[in-house]
Amino acid sequence: MSTQQEPSSPSSSIVLDLAVELARQAGVIIVDGVNRTLDVQYKGASANDPVTDVDKRSEAAIAAGIRARFPHHRILSEEGTTGGDDPRWRWIVDPLDGTINYSHRLPFCCVSIGVEYDGQIVAGVVYNALGDELFVAERGKGATLNGAPIKPSPTIELRRALVSAAVGPWEAGGRRFERGHGLGAHVQAIRELGSAALELCYVAAGRIDAMGGASLNAWDVAAGALILEEAGGQVTDQHGDPFKVEGRHYVVSNGPLHGALMARLHDESTLLPPKTDETPAPAPAAPGSTSAAPAAPSTH
Ligand code: IPD
Ligand code: CA
Ligand code: CA
Repeated sequence: MSTQQEPSSPSSSIVLDLAVELARQAGVIIVDGVNRTLDVQYKGASANDPVTDVDKRSEAAIAAGIRARFPHHRILSEEGTTGGDDPRWRWIVDPLDGTINYSHRLPFCCVSIGVEYDGQIVAGVVYNALGDELFVAERGKGATLNGAPIKPSPTIELRRALVSAAVGPWEAGGRRFERGHGLGAHVQAIRELGSAALELCYVAAGRIDAMGGASLNAWDVAAGALILEEAGGQVTDQHGDPFKVEGRHYVVSNGPLHGALMARLHDESTLLPPKTDETPAPAPAAPGSTSAAPAAPSTH
């Protein structure tokens, strides 16, 4: 079957406008869910990977909005909704990043929508609905928070850095790794905040200085990485190589700290996965499924 493309290609600012609109719509669903009893299911046998009815309703609303406007655009979304088969455009969606926080009523979560064109993220939106904070970036045009330009912190000393750790389950060579574990003694403090997409934006906005992300998925980082880079921050893989949306493991910083952070992490090299680590990313949930989909085996 031949692939289909939109008759005329939209500009990144047009897709960005739609991404903002859809993130705000999803935000209404998230805010509404805060005072309701949540239907929480678990993916596979894991007690660590919940999905709520709010995740699913948020995803359905975002996907419906994309399909209505750009029916041929591909969609990669965490809970499994798919789109068309245009080879150039792909929407990468996390309908609710920070589900564990949300299911405990801890208000640190967001909607994340990144839009990729020809393999490059060109637009990104992260919406912290519970705090009404909208982070936006378009490639080459900077990053904003609620319309105002943002930039990372000027921190240059690792010992003054507040670092967050978005640590997913991660095993290599039979050992469990936790990025940041060996870093604690060398930084001001480490926090595990529970929403990688929002943490990327916090580095972009200068609220935290750096971040380590392990076993993250494309939907966790697609939008936030663009927002960070457009704000002037830096994101690489764990070896210092350029960011790839399907890269899984990341080192994130305000920029000036990146070298010291990398050096410190590699000084603690046993805590990093080997270069050959090919831990597969989990597939999104099966399209159209009504119950939680099987997930990768728990590593706990
Ligand atoms: C999770 C969050 C968390 C990260 C996990 C992710 P979810 O996303 O981003 O910070 O450590 O690896 O799975 O499941 O809440 O969308
Ligand atoms: Ca996520
Ligand atoms: Ca999610």
